[in-house]
Amino acid sequence: MQGREPLGVIGAGWVGLVTAACFAELGHEVVVRDIDAERIGELEDGRLPIFEPGLDEVLAQNRGRIRFTLDIAEIFDAARVAFICVGTPSTYSGDADLTAVWHVLDELPELQDRVLLVMKSTVPVGTGEKIRQRLDDKGLAHVGYVSNPEFLAEGTAVENFRHPDRVVVGAFAEADGAKVAGLYEPTGAPLVTTDVASAEMIKLASNAFLATRISFINEIANVCEVTGADVADVARGMGLDHRLGPHFLRPGIGYGGSCFPKDVAALKQLAGNSGYHFQLLSAVIEVNELQKRRVVGKLKKHLGPLRGKEIALLGLAFKPNTNDLREASSLVLASRLLAEGARVRAWDPIAIEDARKLLKGVEFATTLREAVAGADAAVVVTEWDEVRELPTPELRDSMRRPLIVDGRNFLDPEAARAIGFTYEGIGRAASTLGAIQQAEQTEPELA
Ligand SMILES: NC(=O)c1ccc[n+]([C@@H]2O[C@H](COP(=O)([O-])OP(=O)(O)OC[C@H]3O[C@@H](n4cnc5c(N)ncnc54)[C@H](O)[C@@H]3O)[C@@H](O)[C@H]2O)c1
Repeated sequence: MQGREPLGVIGAGWVGLVTAACFAELGHEVVVRDIDAERIGELEDGRLPIFEPGLDEVLAQNRGRIRFTLDIAEIFDAARVAFICVGTPSTYSGDADLTAVWHVLDELPELQDRVLLVMKSTVPVGTGEKIRQRLDDKGLAHVGYVSNPEFLAEGTAVENFRHPDRVVVGAFAEADGAKVAGLYEPTGAPLVTTDVASAEMIKLASNAFLATRISFINEIANVCEVTGADVADVARGMGLDHRLGPHFLRPGIGYGGSCFPKDVAALKQLAGNSGYHFQLLSAVIEVNELQKRRVVGKLKKHLGPLRGKEIALLGLAFKPNTNDLREASSLVLASRLLAEGARVRAWDPIAIEDARKLLKGVEFATTLREAVAGADAAVVVTEWDEVRELPTPELRDSMRRPLIVDGRNFLDPEAARAIGFTYEGIGRAASTLGAIQQAEQTEPELA
């Protein structure tokens, strides 16, 4: 029966584990292979190497149908369909590093039957064509290849698998595409069937567009700060237009994570390598880099030089409900603050252990209270629920200066000010006042 076909999953990261757990939930037997022995050991012991809400339960409930292995041959002993879910990080040039993908290809065992390799990893347009060629060169013309990009968002990944906005399937052979599409039938998701190159592009273009919206609203927020508008109202007013929609119109201190930065860079690079200068994406990337640093200016506005000042960073993960620190804005911000001579004390409910390895020179607090005690400023970096506890008289009194720089516009400015905090958000009306006064003072020079 199609729906219960045994499946292989290569790569036990966010995408691989969610794919394995959720297909197991749909009744499939799943073999998961990773090259990281420690990771496989943890998974066999029932421990999850990543934090993803709900994933531990789905894995535990379907544990009987999931097997973990280090041996790629076990995948193909059990399954005729294998999802490739290995990492494709950025190289220094901004291209996608496909080392892990090629490694999988090189390791394929002797395959007599028709098996299907299904690419869930995000890869540059043209990768499928190259893989097809490599398979043919290896005498594996009978091995099918399908592009099935993954759109899950960390923090809501299980829900995203169960109810995807769409399933994209790009295939060289119609029957292969139909087979993969059939696996998702229980989700009832709209299906986009296309060629391999277009499927690859749908993924890159989607992430690039979301990143563009973020950089756009961040620039609008910055302009709000110098013109007297409030970006929260502006974003709401824009988002109610059905042609625009409300999503990804929340200003902040820049996008991060394992996908947007590398996928935007990969698309820009891919275009450049093909002779096209993707000007818009260059701006999107630059705006994002500058946005991560804007907090430093806001702190200086209130505190003057930051040398010796104690700054509490509240949240380190690139967004709430994940422990993923890849390309998190907190990393750039912490480094900038240290370079300015500030003392940085950081707190995060779940990403601390990983952060210790990445952030040298930063002190770590185990609670939010401990982080802000004695601080000259508290910076909201990640919108963890616990951060809502910040604007209280008790925490105000525990700080050397009751200054909140809300890098995510997460807190209610009026409530924070009513308690006696100085509150500075991103592009919000009150932070604007000072900027306007400052602009007015400097007007003659600008003219
Ligand atoms: N994380 C996300 O939110 C997300 C969303 C959509 C798409 N993607 C894409 O999916 C891919 C995987 O992302 P991720 O976040 O799950 O990565 P990850 O780094 O969390 O996991 C990748 C896993 O692959 C393993 N691996 C590397 N080489 C291997 C090999 N030869 N055989 C088996 N395992 C191998 C690694 O050890 C690691 O456990 C990337 O291309 C990413 O861009 C990620």
